[in-house]
Amino acid sequence: MLELIADKRDGRAHSPEELRFIARAAAAGSVPDYQLSAWLMAVCCRGMTRPETVELTRAMASSGRRLNLRALRAPKLDKHSTGGVGDGISLALAPLVAEAGLVVPMMSGRGLGHTGGTLDKLEAIRGLRVRLSPAEILPRLRSVGACMFGQTSSLAPADRKLYQLRDATATIQSPPLVVASILSKKLAEDLDALVLDVKVGSGAIFQDQRRAEELARELVGTARGLGLRCVALLTAMEQPLGRYVGNALEIRQAVEILQGDRRSADYLEVLLALGGWMVHLGGKAKSPRDGSRLLEGLIRSGRAYERLRRLVAAQGGDVRQLDDAGRLPRSRARLSVAAPRRGYLSRLDARLVGEAAVRLGAGRQTMEESLDYGAGLVLEKKVGDYVRRGETLATLYGADSARLKQGLERFAGAFSISARAPAARPVVLKTLA
Ligand code: URA
Repeated sequence: MLELIADKRDGRAHSPEELRFIARAAAAGSVPDYQLSAWLMAVCCRGMTRPETVELTRAMASSGRRLNLRALRAPKLDKHSTGGVGDGISLALAPLVAEAGLVVPMMSGRGLGHTGGTLDKLEAIRGLRVRLSPAEILPRLRSVGACMFGQTSSLAPADRKLYQLRDATATIQSPPLVVASILSKKLAEDLDALVLDVKVGSGAIFQDQRRAEELARELVGTARGLGLRCVALLTAMEQPLGRYVGNALEIRQAVEILQGDRRSADYLEVLLALGGWMVHLGGKAKSPRDGSRLLEGLIRSGRAYERLRRLVAAQGGDVRQLDDAGRLPRSRARLSVAAPRRGYLSRLDARLVGEAAVRLGAGRQTMEESLDYGAGLVLEKKVGDYVRRGETLATLYGADSARLKQGLERFAGAFSISARAPAARPVVLKTLA
């Protein structure tokens, strides 16, 4: 391992055998964390060639078992996001697309830095299990069409280890590491096609569109190099998506959307754009646009919400918490933040809002920290909205006044109000098909 760290530090490319050694060592825990961390930092600084990225991805996917879904007839599709704030889209998307007749085996992650993680959000529902073995996943895919689960010691275990270390060593922003992390999980799912949501803006891994687009190209190119059909959408993460940030709060957002609430227009737009592509790639619609229309119908009819209830029940979750948002966890202390003057909300910085959510207790500041599922923010106003002086911009939820104070410190710098309305900006910025 020492030689491999030195090779990467000096900018040399690894051979496939060397990458397999590293992936196996990460999965087995046979190399100390400090050596893996040093190697991650060397990759972060020196990068990798496309063939190295392809081989690392393959090696990480092979570090454990792969799901064998051949017994399921319907096309198997998934989406993955590079991570954002308020980005609980997966919670609504998996049941919605399953209702359209596709199978969605969705292996998700935990919160990373200031961004939330699907598994953490799901665990806000009482009883819901995300630690499922391959033998438990298959029957759920058969009966519900979708299952949401985490990495285990058998599925993509190398990524589980490397993901944790990256979060703790400032090595998240490395295109080859992001690509291998995301795609190794997706390869282990035995998919027919994948749709990626590459976020751009203050709350994203890469803030400027050029670098985010490079990442999207790297993801699509590597996926295709591995024989996986893949499309990437670049979507805005300048402000949080939707009206809620926090674990239980984002469950509420998914429920409201699937019940036909159209107030979170940006969330709905991204949901239908990603879902439309999935339905199209899965052969259930002639075009992505037709796919989006089909999904809108499934929301209107109530069928998509019913499918979410079935998904939650199949994983042991308490569906009464979906039907009645008052039963979801909600932190005891709350604080409303009032607009200091009138005007248009012209900035709502996603990264700062995400950091506020972490400080409120919705995310982890250390690997060991436990979460407060009821913590987070309800965003009463979004960019472009007009506010009167004293009107509530957002409500913060946390366990106690100390948490609220910490969250407020971040949120106070997250917004700007100006006399002129900001120019409207698109949410879906580009599609790499
Ligand atoms: N999502 C992942 O699964 N991995 C990353 O590295 C970033 C986002």
